[in-house]
Amino acid sequence: MVLSARSAAPSGRAGLPTQQIFQRDWQIYRKMIDNNYLFHREAYACLHQVLASEIDHPFSFLDIACGDASASISALRGTAVARYEGIDLSRVALDMADQLLPALGTPYVLNEGDFAELLPTRRDPLDVVWIGLSLHHFQTREKLRLMQAVRLLLGEGGRFLIYENSSPDGEDRDGWMRRLEAQRPFWSAYDDAEWKVVWEHISRADYPETPSTWARLGHEAGFDRIRELFVAPSDLMRLYSFE
Ligand SMILES: C[S@@+](CC[C@H](N)C(=O)[O-])C[C@H]1O[C@@H](n2cnc3c(N)ncnc32)[C@H](O)[C@@H]1O
Repeated sequence: MVLSARSAAPSGRAGLPTQQIFQRDWQIYRKMIDNNYLFHREAYACLHQVLASEIDHPFSFLDIACGDASASISALRGTAVARYEGIDLSRVALDMADQLLPALGTPYVLNEGDFAELLPTRRDPLDVVWIGLSLHHFQTREKLRLMQAVRLLLGEGGRFLIYENSSPDGEDRDGWMRRLEAQRPFWSAYDDAEWKVVWEHISRADYPETPSTWARLGHEAGFDRIRELFVAPSDLMRLYSFE
């Protein structure tokens, strides 16, 4: 059942060129998922494994930058999820999420808005907060501010999980970009025009962090335990649990 429709007014961030791929060109992003170029299958299988094996009580789940929620829905099936909440800037993606979420069989709510603005205003405690591939749009200091906001939302025993652009220690952003560019021959489902859209988005919007920095940010945000649970075979993304 839909508990409430989209609440927040669309943020100014929705109009940024970096958001175009999610607002106007959702099908281009969808190709990345369908072809598993970002290792969604393995990352979301890892998320499922953690939720199913480590949380045995009914839990609330906040999906920050949920997109069309399709991967989260598959990760949540067979877990004790009791309530789903999604936030996203893209109306196109939220409309798809609204079609897919009833199949999960739990109450859900979708909020259209900028999570950087919505998180600090949110009050109800949460059990699990997840960000799949969206925290990397922020610079390091802003990532910390958002992780602190998430920490404040978590109840006792709550956890924060992310799957985000990451570099091995010692690599800078240019190095990460070069390794991404080297993937082009394998991303054969994209024609040159589509690859240009992808490349322009990533060049403007993606800021990976190293494992050392993710750990430092986690500690500074107030988490005691930080675990790296999955490294994409491309070594371009990693999945962390902050507890
Ligand atoms: C790379 S997709 C990730 C979607 C999904 N979480 C996944 O793992 O595939 C990024 C999503 O984040 C949304 N997004 C990016 N920045 C956002 C922000 N500041 N607030 C809310 N949503 C945002 C985009 O609209 C898009 O749906």
